[in-house]
Amino acid sequence: MFSTNNTYYYSLVATILLVLTFVFCSEGQLSASFYSSTCSNVSSIVRDSVQQALTSDSRIAASLIRLHFHDCFVDVNFHPPFLFHSIFFGCDASILLDVGGNITQSEKNAAPNDNSVRGFDVVDSIKTTIETSCPAVVSCADILALAAEASVSLSQGPSWTVLLGRRDSVTANQAGANTSLPSPFENLTNVSSKLSAVGLDITDLVALSGAHTFGRSQCQFFSQRLFNFNGTGSPDPTLNTTYLATLQQNCPQNGNGATLNNLDPSTPDTFDNKYFTNLLINQGLLQTDQELFSTDGSSTISIVNNFANNQSAFFEAFAQSMIKMGNISPLTGTQGQIRTDCKKVNGS
Ligand code: HEM
Ligand SMILES: *[C@@H]1O[C@H](CO)[C@@H](O)[C@H](O)[C@H]1NC(C)=O
Ligand SMILES: *[C@@H]1O[C@H](CO)[C@@H](O)[C@H](O)[C@H]1NC(C)=O
Ligand SMILES: *[C@@H]1O[C@H](CO)[C@@H](O)[C@H](O)[C@H]1NC(C)=O
Ligand SMILES: *[C@@H]1O[C@H](CO)[C@@H](O)[C@H](O)[C@H]1NC(C)=O
Ligand SMILES: *[C@@H]1O[C@H](CO)[C@@H](O)[C@H](O)[C@H]1NC(C)=O
Ligand SMILES: *[C@@H]1O[C@H](CO)[C@@H](O)[C@H](O)[C@H]1NC(C)=O
Ligand SMILES: *[C@@H]1O[C@H](CO)[C@@H](O)[C@H](O)[C@H]1NC(C)=O
Ligand SMILES: *[C@@H]1O[C@H](CO)[C@@H](O)[C@H](O)[C@H]1NC(C)=O
Repeated sequence: MFSTNNTYYYSLVATILLVLTFVFCSEGQLSASFYSSTCSNVSSIVRDSVQQALTSDSRIAASLIRLHFHDCFVDVNFHPPFLFHSIFFGCDASILLDVGGNITQSEKNAAPNDNSVRGFDVVDSIKTTIETSCPAVVSCADILALAAEASVSLSQGPSWTVLLGRRDSVTANQAGANTSLPSPFENLTNVSSKLSAVGLDITDLVALSGAHTFGRSQCQFFSQRLFNFNGTGSPDPTLNTTYLATLQQNCPQNGNGATLNNLDPSTPDTFDNKYFTNLLINQGLLQTDQELFSTDGSSTISIVNNFANNQSAFFEAFAQSMIKMGNISPLTGTQGQIRTDCKKVNGS
């Protein structure tokens, strides 16, 4: 098969080049080999650190992927008053900035993040380790993307090639974080439109929601379903009654809203497709989880069925959607900076 026809061979090469060009152009200038000459082992440094962190905190993998999600999801096209142009935000490590210098409001204190998003100390320690081997070249935004992949693959989930070359913001956008991130109390229409605002479709929504196959949720984010759902005086009818009894016990009325519950009751720390098989038996924890399967007529239902029946289909789709999410409005080239401390803009 290697012997033949040059014309065929050249047109094959041309097609591959064309496809690659298209892929790289549509991936917003990020590339897998971005650090190959400046910090060639950055992926293994991140992976080793995440593995180390997991030995003392079985939840940290889940927390780290969520940090990347909440970094990327800030309104991409935020149009501040008195400005003619929009400012673009995305996977730019803005979520890591503390108040100080020109930062007056941290995204850490935005409604979806405050007392909820965690893992900042682990990211800071990864950054410190990387600065020792490769000073001032690896962005905090890329560390979040690498840590998300390491977290999933170390939890028995899929691996994927992380595209790199993001740079770090010099601003934070707390108002954008407040309004862009989906809330667990919204209906499917609302959640879908928040994803489509950043270029993610229904398949991405279902695949990415599968990240709720590991990690925890505080009672306050689903307790509205347990006793008096939507003013009906009864629990959410889409909640499995056996599961309901367990949840009511862990999250009693007027109990502590910060109490933690596994997002996936069957395999709480493993990245698998149990999230989807749970939805089939009405064991989605958040209202927004169960809605993917229980909203009548929704196009999400067949996708949930597919992922529940075929873990490889889920893993493939998840990896693709993570790359898509990681590509939301990155700063590249000479935009932004490479922070030396993820918590602070350089020189502040
Ligand atoms: C689609 C809309 C989504 C909603 C409404 C949502 C909402 C939530 C909520 C309320 C929690 C619990 C937070 C807490 O108790 O402090 C949570 C946890 C989590 N979310 Fe989501 N989420 C969504 C999508 C995603 C996506 C796209 C990812 C990642 C790709 C993700 C990954 C996680 C993980 C891993 C956790 C557990 C974190 C931990 O244990 O620290 N979520 N999510
Ligand atoms: C990464 O590479 C640098 C230099 O190439 C080396 O000093 C460092 O020990 C390596 N770190 C790991 C974790 O392999
Ligand atoms: C974001 O939401 C939090 C909590 O609701 C609120 O305290 C804060 O003022 C909001 N920030 C902005 C900039 O709107
Ligand atoms: C859903 O979106 C609509 C329109 O933007 C908004 O008025 C409503 O408050 C949202 N629902 C929830 C539960 O956030
Ligand atoms: C979701 O909420 C919005 C606004 O609150 C409403 O217009 C829409 O009909 C709702 N969609 C569903 C599927 O219930
Ligand atoms: C909540 O109740 C309102 C009014 O009865 C209804 O229109 C809405 O669809 C209900 N929402 C859910 C999620 O059941
Ligand atoms: C509720 O969950 C149990 C397993 O705990 C399962 O056997 C049952 O079929 C589920 N019920 C519904 C209505 O999905
Ligand atoms: C499961 O999904 C994979 C990946 O999309 C596909 O190649 C395979 O044929 C599917 N398996 C079945 C039994 O449908
Ligand atoms: C803070 O903002 C001022 C005015 O825009 C700018 O000149 C200065 O360089 C900024 N400081 C830092 C540390 O970015």
